[in-house]
Amino acid sequence: MPASAGTNGERQEIKMAVRKKTKSSKAKGKPKSRAASKKVVKLKAKKPAKTTANGNGLPKPSSRPYGQAGRALDGLRILDFTHVQSGPTCTQLLAYMGADVIKVERPGAGDITRGQLRDVPNADSLYFTMLNGSKRSITIDSKHPKGMDILNRLIKTCDVLVENFAPGALDRMGLTWDYIHKHNPRMIVASVKGFGPGPYEDCKVYENVAQCAGGSASTTGFREGPPLITGAQIGDSGTGLHLALGIMAALYQRNRTGRGQKVLCAMQDGVLNLARVKLRDQQRIEKGPLTEYSQYGEGVPFGKAVPRAGNDSGGGQPGWIVKCKGWENDPDAYLYFITQAPVWNEICDVIGEPTWKTDPEYATPKARLPKLKAIFARIEQFTMTMTKFEAMELFNKHDIPCGPILSMKEIAEEQSLRATGTVVEVDHPVRGKYLTVGNPIKLSDSPADVRRSPLLGEHTEEILSKVLGYNGSQIAEIKASGAITAPKKEEKAA
Ligand code: COA
Repeated sequence: MPASAGTNGERQEIKMAVRKKTKSSKAKGKPKSRAASKKVVKLKAKKPAKTTANGNGLPKPSSRPYGQAGRALDGLRILDFTHVQSGPTCTQLLAYMGADVIKVERPGAGDITRGQLRDVPNADSLYFTMLNGSKRSITIDSKHPKGMDILNRLIKTCDVLVENFAPGALDRMGLTWDYIHKHNPRMIVASVKGFGPGPYEDCKVYENVAQCAGGSASTTGFREGPPLITGAQIGDSGTGLHLALGIMAALYQRNRTGRGQKVLCAMQDGVLNLARVKLRDQQRIEKGPLTEYSQYGEGVPFGKAVPRAGNDSGGGQPGWIVKCKGWENDPDAYLYFITQAPVWNEICDVIGEPTWKTDPEYATPKARLPKLKAIFARIEQFTMTMTKFEAMELFNKHDIPCGPILSMKEIAEEQSLRATGTVVEVDHPVRGKYLTVGNPIKLSDSPADVRRSPLLGEHTEEILSKVLGYNGSQIAEIKASGAITAPKKEEKAA
């Protein structure tokens, strides 16, 4: 734990204090003096915060039949032909919500991520395990005639086929839209591709390529530096989320039409959707300078395209990242601070600049725009006297929006995220316990079903017999054919 972060217990107390803002300070609407505010920062034992019975902030599932009817997607069966990250994000989410997700993998090899970035020798990597929880794994060689027989049966029994192969790969397997739709007219075929139809439609695409092509990289980073990639996987995981929504819409429409449809999400489109505020700014820049960008206050002229804006807020309320106590040694001892106009008076009082409330040079948002750099420097002078958690508590008592920069270590240790099921510890037979991200979408009648990822081919026989109805001798025949087993290694030449 970084020096400035405090113990878990301390942080819990601080959070509770933030949640339980004193009614009196809110009701009177009077900001406290700086000295008084600093006094409040002293940590005191607080009563535990109230949570709902199931600890996830939601009403308890109803005791009536509709509240006891299992998970939201029970009965939905998914033929999961996904690999790496974008497709698996989508199908894992559907599995968490109760869908039976059958992941088809190449015998002997499986999803390439099983062996990528390994931290435990010979165990499935965290890259794989954190994206394939709650699924079943079957190995099938789709290029083997018997493998294709099995796939045909799966196509008839599944509701949705999800894939994110390179363009044309599914067709080359023989699984064209026409073919699938002929064998199961209700089947929804959902795909992630790098690009939609156009000049790049045949290209293979990974996360960072999508961030660049979707407009995120050119608008991320500092003006003086090169374009930057964000740590959040908006190209892969972001597009997987878009795909899940498309599948849900197609299922809803199928209820009326009885017909499946094709769902396509291009990663470029998904990133652009998440970066839409920058396309907003592109249209504004044609009419004049972007006054909320620090560049405006610094007198640097704008070019023709939206520039990189560092940590400027993307919305109408100026924000910036400021240092907190301990920043010299802790790379995450920072706070995001927003100078929200409605609480400007409170900000002035808390940081010790009460004259800024009435000074025409500071009193209005417009007057402040050219001085944002200096204003944030003053705020930083103040925040450097306290930890990011103390600052969070203090500012929130005055309804001033801000947020501590949390490291992944702090997030992994955060008990409230465990309590809501957003961070879940699962046990794996080979690698042991690991943390995964549970379902960030909470449903009151459908608790998330977060289980460990399957071993390669762990459910092959179970699916062949219980889902597809093969008998023992047929399974033995399939095994002998090589359609579900790894090809034998050729003997080395002497
Ligand atoms: N049995 C037999 N063959 C199988 C198989 C199975 N069970 N599963 C996959 N394959 C084959 C495919 O048929 C394909 O063969 P082909 O090219 O001879 O037709 C091959 O394996 C792999 O396909 P491909 O998707 O090209 O893998 P890749 O590792 O070369 O490329 C990506 C990876 C991610 C770049 C590419 O799949 C892609 O661009 N996907 C779409 C965009 C995307 O989702 N990107 C983000 C990934 S997180």
